Amino acid sequence: MRRVLITGGAGFLGSHLADALLARGDEVAILDTAGDLKVRHLLGNSRFRYVRDSIFNREILEGLITWCDVVYHLAAVVGVEHYVGDPYQVLNVNVNGTQSVLTLAFKAQKKVIFSSTSEVYGKSSSVPFREDGDRVLGSTRIDRWCYSTSKAVGEHFCFAFHKIGLPVVVLRYFNVYGPRLDRMDVGRVITIFLGQLLRGEPLTVIGDGRQTRSFTYVDDAIRATVAAGLKEEAVGGIINIGSDKEVSIKELAELMIALSGSTSSVTFVPQKSIYGDSYEDIPRRVPDNSRMREILGVTPQISLEDGLRRTIEWFRAQGIEP
Ligand SMILES: NC(=O)c1ccc[n+]([C@@H]2O[C@H](COP(=O)([O-])OP(=O)(O)OC[C@H]3O[C@@H](n4cnc5c(N)ncnc54)[C@H](O)[C@@H]3O)[C@@H](O)[C@H]2O)c1
Repeated sequence: MRRVLITGGAGFLGSHLADALLARGDEVAILDTAGDLKVRHLLGNSRFRYVRDSIFNREILEGLITWCDVVYHLAAVVGVEHYVGDPYQVLNVNVNGTQSVLTLAFKAQKKVIFSSTSEVYGKSSSVPFREDGDRVLGSTRIDRWCYSTSKAVGEHFCFAFHKIGLPVVVLRYFNVYGPRLDRMDVGRVITIFLGQLLRGEPLTVIGDGRQTRSFTYVDDAIRATVAAGLKEEAVGGIINIGSDKEVSIKELAELMIALSGSTSSVTFVPQKSIYGDSYEDIPRRVPDNSRMREILGVTPQISLEDGLRRTIEWFRAQGIEP
């Protein structure tokens, strides 16, 4: 049994990671500023502790890092609405917060698994993205790049600490989705589509819908995340976590409509009308996931159809259908 700290553990990925670690027999503490909505089902578990506080509370963070054997650092400000609406928070939490976590983990010599993102590749056209490929970002006047930049700085901090002896693993997630993803209508494309879908409204595709993504069902991402904390070969490296099945946003919208039996249609809106001038979209985003398969021993198993079906069913069952 290990003692595991998950920063950001009350979020989407963190709550699923807590489930998986508890199921393995680990003891889990989570540190998160958010409410307990996504971890309420765990509150009665004697091996689970929920500390509602910020990673900026140094005393609390230090106590938890001293207690644990390994830190999964997931706490971050995530979501396009934040990148363009509150870049200060994105940079502060994702850069300065990560620095604090790493500094204290270094002091206590605890392994850190850092949650980075496919966003770090930016507009690179070298698809599929390989972990050692170049990053191609836009101007700093385009706010959307603050998230990508903040996570890349987090990665640099990881490797700076690794150089002086801290065991770190960097995971770059590619559009993970599933039950407990954000609230409907906010956050990421799937939850925005879900709200529209379940109300029978048109699904609003931003731009021409030809931009592609690779969607990764949460169970697959979590199996890889758990393995990253256990495999020695992963230490000191970067690993893409994602499915290599590429799908356009238009296809995604059509698939969600077909799977749900909804009467919704697809409509296209110009990007500028949603995000103003502070946004640039990424045309294609697909991982090379060979490291995930070879180092972590994890191959995505849930097809997009299956994963979407489960996700739609979960959101329906929540009774949060407007
Ligand atoms: N889900 C994905 O597809 C995806 C893709 C790429 C990267 N990631 C990364 O994985 C991690 C988890 O993402 P998620 O999808 O679960 O997002 P999420 O927003 O659900 O989880 C992030 C959590 O961090 C918490 N947090 C924010 N500021 C904090 C602070 N100061 N102190 C403590 N907690 C704080 C939030 O309250 C939230 O619960 C993030 O680091 C994100 O950048 C996720």
